[in-house]
Amino acid sequence: MMKMKMKLLLFLCGVLWVSADVLHEDLNILGCSDSDGEFMFTLDGEEVWYADFKKGKGVEPQPPFVVHISYPGAYEAALANLQVCRSNLKVCRSAMKDIPDENDAPSNLVIYPRDDVELGEKNILVCHVSGFYPAPVNVSWTRNGQKVTEGTSINVPFPSKDSTFTQISRLQFVPQLGDIYSCTVEHLALEEPQTRTWDVEMDNPQSGPGPAIFCGVGLTIGLLGVAVGTFFLIKGNECS
Ligand SMILES: *[C@@H]1O[C@H](CO)[C@@H](O)[C@H](O)[C@H]1NC(C)=O
Repeated sequence: MMKMKMKLLLFLCGVLWVSADVLHEDLNILGCSDSDGEFMFTLDGEEVWYADFKKGKGVEPQPPFVVHISYPGAYEAALANLQVCRSNLKVCRSAMKDIPDENDAPSNLVIYPRDDVELGEKNILVCHVSGFYPAPVNVSWTRNGQKVTEGTSINVPFPSKDSTFTQISRLQFVPQLGDIYSCTVEHLALEEPQTRTWDVEMDNPQSGPGPAIFCGVGLTIGLLGVAVGTFFLIKGNECS
């Protein structure tokens, strides 16, 4: 029963404009559940504008060096669209009540630091979750087993071409030797949460034995090739 109540139904309409001679893709995403909603404009796969319904305003997430496109009245339009979406959702629910919901658990979960790790230097840990349906996922973070909420953020669900979603959660952190971080993802299609861990270690073998071994093996194979080639070259000459 509890599960039914928590279930989020997301109704999604995407409108796609593709111009044939100039290859840009402008996507407008509208989605809703009873408690949640999404309205977003993207250009070539980048989030250009989205409505933050919790804060009651539009957000332009692009960095300052990008020319920002403004959408006057967009937040009001987003609110109106959310109402339309919810009433469509109601209709869809009753029309499709005998069809089981389709759920896809996240197919890919990766944790990595945004910048090269320098001890004591501010960095951002990224938890990249993709391949799930419906949206959203919950992402939680720990440092050395303790839950962390400060300095975390998550973007709005981003739809992929295969009609699954991607979400990226970020954690601001300062790498200290030996610290262990984890990100845990919850999704309604997952029976239990999935976790990835990442630890700060400085002795990662950037110039260690790894490349040297590959170089050695490569060189050996190369020399072997030369030897075999020479052998057949001589053999060939003997025959003629
Ligand atoms: C995400 O967290 C909220 C609040 O704790 C909870 O109500 C919801 O069921 C969670 N969603 C999933 C998919 O676990």
